[in-house]
Formats: sequence, C-alpha cells, structure tokens
Amino acid sequence: MPTEQQAHYKQAMRDQWSTAAEAWGANHPKFAEMSKHVTAAIVVAADLKEGHHVLDLAGGTGEPSLTVARQILPEGTVICTDLVQPMLDAAQRNAKDEGLTNITFQQVDMEDIPFEDGRFDRITARFGIMFPPDTQLALSEIKRVLKPGGRVAFTVWAPIAENPSFTVINGPLMAAGLLKPPPPDAPTPFRFGEPGSLTAQLRQAGFNDVHEEVRDIEWAWPGTAEEQIAFNRATLTTTRNALDAAPPEVIEQIKAGMNKHKDGDRLNYGAKIYVVWAVK
Ligand SMILES: C[S@@+](CC[C@H](N)C(=O)[O-])C[C@H]1O[C@@H](n2cnc3c(N)ncnc32)[C@H](O)[C@@H]1O
Repeated sequence: MPTEQQAHYKQAMRDQWSTAAEAWGANHPKFAEMSKHVTAAIVVAADLKEGHHVLDLAGGTGEPSLTVARQILPEGTVICTDLVQPMLDAAQRNAKDEGLTNITFQQVDMEDIPFEDGRFDRITARFGIMFPPDTQLALSEIKRVLKPGGRVAFTVWAPIAENPSFTVINGPLMAAGLLKPPPPDAPTPFRFGEPGSLTAQLRQAGFNDVHEEVRDIEWAWPGTAEEQIAFNRATLTTTRNALDAAPPEVIEQIKAGMNKHKDGDRLNYGAKIYVVWAVK
C-alpha cells in the first residue's frame, strides 16, 4: 500500500503531466532537438540489437521510443508507455508522422506494470525513473518484466546547480521568494542528482553490472529567451505559477541570464546528466 504522501505525489504527477501534455506535444520538435544528445546516450547505453522487444517507460511525447523503434527494425518492437494518456496521444501522432509501424502505445504506471514476467529484452526511461514515488517498487516491477540477462538504461539529471537551463529560471524566482525548494523525498527531476544515488537503488533492487557515467552534453534551446520562458511556463506547472506571479524586473533578470548563453540563434547552456545501465 502506498503511504498517504506517496499517493499524494502520484496524483500530483498525473495532474501535472496531463495539464502540460498539450504544450509538450506542440513543442516536441524543439525539445527533441534540444535533447538529441541525451537520446543518443540512452540508445547507446541500452545496447540495442535488431529484433529486440523494448519497453520505454515514462515515454512522454515519444523519446527515446521513436529513436529506439528505428534502430531495431525490421523485427523489433517498442511499447511506448506513460503514466498519462495525453502525453501518449502526442507520442502516437509523432510516430504516425514518421511512418513508424513497430511501435505501440499503452498507459502504464511503472510502479504497476501490466506485462508478464521476462517479456522485454530492454527497458528504457529517459528523464523518467525519478518520478514514481516508490523507486524500489518501480525497479522491482521493471526487473520482473525484463528477461534474464536483459538490460535497463536510464538518464537522470545531475544536481540543478550544474544545469544552467534550469537555474537561469529557478534562481531569480527563488531569490524573489516565488519558488521554494521541494522536500528532499519529492519526485522531482533532480531526485537522483547525488552521484551514485540511482546506482545504489539499482543494486538494492538486485540488478547486476550497474554502470553510472556522468556526461557533459550539449543542451541548447533552439530559439529565443522569450520562447524558452513560454515553453517552461507551458510545460512545468510549478514554474508557471511562479512566472505568473513574477514582477517584470524578475522576468528581465531571467531573460538576461538566458541571453548570457546566446550562441547564434540558440541558447547554448550545456547540461550534466548521468547515464545509468544495469543487467538483470
Ligand atoms: C520529463 S518527462 C520525460 C518524457 C520523455 N521520456 C522525454 O525524455 O522527453 C517525464 C514523464 O514521466 C511520466 N511519469 C511520471 N510518473 C510516472 C510513473 N509512475 N510511471 C510512468 N510514467 C510516469 C510523466 O507522465 C511524464 O510524461
């Protein structure tokens, strides 16, 4: 049974990601461009082979599912899953636009995976494993549906302080008292920011050959500061409330911070992530 706090976090996740799904869908091409090096990293870590059957968890608007689907043709299949259906609706449109036919879509909570034991060769989650409130429950489900010898591959964020695309916004909002740091156990993007923390969870769940690599990747918003503020406002509900309450001088501070990273027609921040993989 989940604790009351865990049930609260799960409902908050459902609300937050459903509300923002349309904006994530509309911004898919820009975010896919921004995050393409993370996609590449998770695909390499997953060690995909033609014919693999892959489960992508927390698939959002379709990455890495779409890239994985192209790599395992002609016999391989991907099931792109997510906690909320509106994200999957966007993913499904993206797969159709690309003409991919070896990918299906299903609403799945990774704490309660509706597939039989040992079904998948590979399981991926890009920026997703931090969100189920009970990490050990999610990892036990992931291990159960993985084939013996199968592999999981995850990407997670290093600490927020090392990721300027977040601090340029959150810094001024926090300094103005408009945004508060989340409780330490909250399912936030930076939950596994402490080096080795996801590795420790995987070992505790009984995975073998756990590898964790820190990567400094290119991470560039393909547009202006104004467009990035609009993107963050539309896709991150907590940031939205703070941005809406922010006085003009705080917004100007945010824009100035973003424009320090201007590189032609992009905002070139760079990012620090961990790529983590393990074997059942
Ligand atoms: C940051 S997005 C990542 C989406 C995509 N993988 C990407 O990298 O663009 C996080 C996703 O996790 C999903 N999510 C949150 N909790 C989940 C859970 N318990 N099980 C499955 N998905 C979950 C959300 O609905 C959201 O789509």
